[in-house]
Amino acid sequence: MTTTTATTATTATTATTATTGTTATTGTTATTGTTATTGTARCRACAGPLTEFLDLGAQPNSDAFPRPGETEGEFFFRLAVGLCGECTMVQLMEEVPRERMFHEDYPYHSSGSTVMRGHFEDTARQLLAGPAAGPDAFVVELGCNDGVMLATVAAAGVRHLGVDPSAGVADRAREKGVRVRTAFFEESTAREIAAAEGRADVVYAANTLCHIPYLESVFRGLDALLKPTGVFVFEDPYLGEIVERTSFDQIYDEHYWFFTARSVRNLARRYGFELVDVVRLPVHGGEVRYTLARQGAQAPSAAVAALLAEEEAAALAEPATLERFAAGVRRTREELTELLGRLRAEGRRVVAYGATAKSATVANYCGIGPELIEFVCDTTPAKQGRLTPGSHIPVRPAEAFAAPYPDYALLFAWNHAEEITAKEQEFRAAGGRWILYTPEVRVL
Ligand code: SAM
Ligand code: TMP
Ligand code: ZN
Repeated sequence: MTTTTATTATTATTATTATTGTTATTGTTATTGTTATTGTARCRACAGPLTEFLDLGAQPNSDAFPRPGETEGEFFFRLAVGLCGECTMVQLMEEVPRERMFHEDYPYHSSGSTVMRGHFEDTARQLLAGPAAGPDAFVVELGCNDGVMLATVAAAGVRHLGVDPSAGVADRAREKGVRVRTAFFEESTAREIAAAEGRADVVYAANTLCHIPYLESVFRGLDALLKPTGVFVFEDPYLGEIVERTSFDQIYDEHYWFFTARSVRNLARRYGFELVDVVRLPVHGGEVRYTLARQGAQAPSAAVAALLAEEEAAALAEPATLERFAAGVRRTREELTELLGRLRAEGRRVVAYGATAKSATVANYCGIGPELIEFVCDTTPAKQGRLTPGSHIPVRPAEAFAAPYPDYALLFAWNHAEEITAKEQEFRAAGGRWILYTPEVRVL
C-alpha cells in the first residue's frame, strides 16, 4: 500500500501565513504515515506546548470514497489529538492539506438531513431578526456548502455572500439563488470581499471554523471584513459533549479544532475580539454556537460565565480528564469489535447506516471492514457505489437497507438517530436491532 503523509504539528507554522502551512509528502510505508520529528509539538493557535492524549492511528480522508478497484495510493495520515498547555485548545497533531479535503467533489451536502434543513432555516431567521436586521444588512457565511442556511437569507432579499472552496456544493447553492464565492476564507479573501462589497454585519460559520487550522489568517480577515458593530457567529461540535459521550468519531481529518468556551475566549482575545454569547445546540451530537464581538463592543452574556464555570467544574481541559476520555475510547473499540465478531460468528447479517465522515474514524480505528459489515447505506448519491475510506465497505443507496432488512444495523449516523429511527420503524418491527457505540456500546 502506498501512503501519503501529512505534516506533524511540530512542523506546522504558528499560522502566521495566509496559507495552510502544510507540505504533504509522499511516503512509502504502510504504517501510521507519521513523519519522524523531534522536539516539542506546538499549538497551532498560540504556539504553546502541545501534549498528545489520544492516537487513533492511520486514517484516510474521511470524505474520500474510492471506487471499487481504485484503492491503491489512498491517502493516510496519523490521527492524534493533543491539548495545549497554554491556551487549552484541543487540536489535531497533524494537519491534512486543505485541498485534499475541500474540492469540486466534496461529497457532503448539508441539505441531506431534514433536521439540519430546519435548524438552518431557524438560524437564518434568527440572524435576520438579530445582527442582520438593519437596513442594507450584509451577511457573509463561511462554508455555506449547498446553501442550506443562506437560501433563507436570499429569499428574504437580504444582501449576502457565501464563501466555500468546494465548487460542487457551491453550484448547488447557486441553484437556490445564493451568491457564492468559490474560495477558502482567509485574510486575502476577506480583504477582497470588504473592498468589493463593503463590511459585513455578521459573519456566520457552521461546522466550518473547526475545519480551518490557519486561524490567525481567518481572524485578521474577520477584523478586515466586519463592521465595528459586526459579530462573528459560529457553531461547532463541543468538546464537553465529545468527552461526556465518548464520541471519539467527531475526531477526523476535517475536524482540526475541538472548542470550549474557555479556548474560544482565549482565541478571540488574541485578535481583539471577545466571546459575548454561547448557546448549546442539540445538532450533530452536541454543539455550541459562539458569538464574538469586537472587544468593548458588547458585554458578555450570563451564559458565557455559566458555561465557563461548567467547564471548570468538569475539569474539561485538564490532562487527567482527557486521559480518561482516551481510556473510554479504547474500551469502546474492544467492546464494539467483540460484539461485531460475535455476531459474525453467529451468522447474523450486519449492515451500517450512514456513511458519515465520522464513521471513517470508527471503522479504521476499530478495524471494521467488509468482513464484519456487509454494506453501508447512505442517501448521498456521490457516496453510493463507492467504498468507505480506508475500510472499503461498499456504500449502497438507502433503499438497499430494506432489501431485505438485516438482523443488525450499526448506526454510524447516530447524530441523526431521531430522524432515522423514526423513518425506519419497519426495520424494528421486522425484528431488526440497532447497534450504537456512543456513549457506550449497546444494542437497541
Ligand atoms: N455549513 C454547512 C453545515 O453546517 O452543514 C457545511 C459544513 S461542511 C462540514 C464544511 C464546509 O466548509 C465545506 O462545504 C467546505 O468546503 C467548507 N470550507 C472548508 N474550509 C473552508 C474555508 N477556509 N473557508 C470557507 N469554507 C471552507
Ligand atoms: P453527517 O453526520 O456528517 O451529517 O453525515 C450524515 C450522513 O448520513 C450523510 O452521508 C447522509 C447520511 N444519511 C442517511 O443516509 N440517511 C439519513 O436519513 C440521514 C439523516 C443521513
Ligand atoms: Zn495554545
